[in-house]
Amino acid sequence: MGLKYQDGSLVFGETNFVSLEKIAQKKSDPFYVYDLDGMKSRLHYLKKSFPGISPHYAMKANSADRILKMFAQEGSGVDVVSGGEIRHALKTGFKAKDIIFSGVGKSRTELELAIGEEIKQINVESPQELLRIIAMSKAMNKKPKVAFRINPDVDAKTHPYITTGFRENKFGMGEHFVPELRAILTSNPNTVDLCGLTLHIGSQLQDILPIKDAIQKTLPLFYQFKQEGHQMRTFDVGGGLGIPYNEEHTFPSKDYALLNGYGKMLQEALQGFTGEVLCEPGRILVGSCGVLVGEVQYIKETPFRSFLIVNTGIHHMMRPALYQAYHRILPVRSNDNREQRIYDIVGPICESSDVLGRERTLYEIKPGEHIAIADSGAYGYSMASYYNEHDFPEQFFWENQHLDSDKPMDLKSEKEFQVRNL
Ligand SMILES: Cc1ncc(COP(=O)(O)O)c(C=O)c1O
Repeated sequence: MGLKYQDGSLVFGETNFVSLEKIAQKKSDPFYVYDLDGMKSRLHYLKKSFPGISPHYAMKANSADRILKMFAQEGSGVDVVSGGEIRHALKTGFKAKDIIFSGVGKSRTELELAIGEEIKQINVESPQELLRIIAMSKAMNKKPKVAFRINPDVDAKTHPYITTGFRENKFGMGEHFVPELRAILTSNPNTVDLCGLTLHIGSQLQDILPIKDAIQKTLPLFYQFKQEGHQMRTFDVGGGLGIPYNEEHTFPSKDYALLNGYGKMLQEALQGFTGEVLCEPGRILVGSCGVLVGEVQYIKETPFRSFLIVNTGIHHMMRPALYQAYHRILPVRSNDNREQRIYDIVGPICESSDVLGRERTLYEIKPGEHIAIADSGAYGYSMASYYNEHDFPEQFFWENQHLDSDKPMDLKSEKEFQVRNL
């Protein structure tokens, strides 16, 4: 979604559009723009696609305060993976009863916080973690709600670095762990409340059938635990829905079609299930609703390559370096009256992997002009680093505005140095 040219100028949005060029004229430093309306409408569409589903936004995708507050206000829960994220979620309006805590390496301090706050559910990822939770619950005189994260051993058909539900991954617990988990529960009665099972098989899934497969493989275990007397109430299907990074986005965005298909798939896979269905989407809710804009500093022509050197890079958008991810890169002012060139678009970071796009054909761009990195709303700013000590980009949030209004832009900006501010 999101990007199109109006009179040669790149605009961003879905129903309302903001001119990236207008912001860029005032800002020479890199910035992100987010379309909060687009995020909201994805959340509502997800809820409509499977009535009764209980979305828990995976805040690792983007934890800007404004985005978290918006999701909390819109009635979403939140999926967190650290004590820092628990504190951040509580600070931005989520209640403890809306928080699910995932992750393979939960420390004592993090668990103390989760147990003390009595959050909705702790997703347990190993027998040793269960033992730690039980010991802490006894000491704290609490009975936390836990769900077992099952590793269903399915091929999510995504990049190996974001596959999580295959037997060789560190995440979740395969069936072979079940007898040990049972034995631990039996020898520690009334210490934890086993309330459900949870799955998350990977991220950026283009094909949702592996999720269906995983659900169908895991549901029998849910019913077994129920039969054994556990008050099983929740089945958490994780996140993982992908967005079409490679494609020119159409209006309305393909995200809606995927959410619709997802709802139908869940209805089939969970037929007859009467408990609460939770999900933990991150990318699909925010990914295509964000764009990163940088300014061209220099063009460096060598006998071998043409480098377009910009003031943003892997310190602001790590995905290309981390997963060889592809993001469309577009000039903020269309220069289609110029010659086409092939560029490697690179940042200022002292690493050869600081490449945002390789061998991209663009109309000639000059220093001082701007480029936009599309679909940067997820795993962009939240993975940004202080490496080389560049500033974090400014973030603008676009909501309920019309580009064609005469009003001066009242985009709200927040400079969120999130990690260091917590
Ligand atoms: C446990 C868990 N849930 C949810 C998500 C969100 O995934 P996505 O952004 O692909 O929806 C992740 C991402 O890695 C995760 O690890």
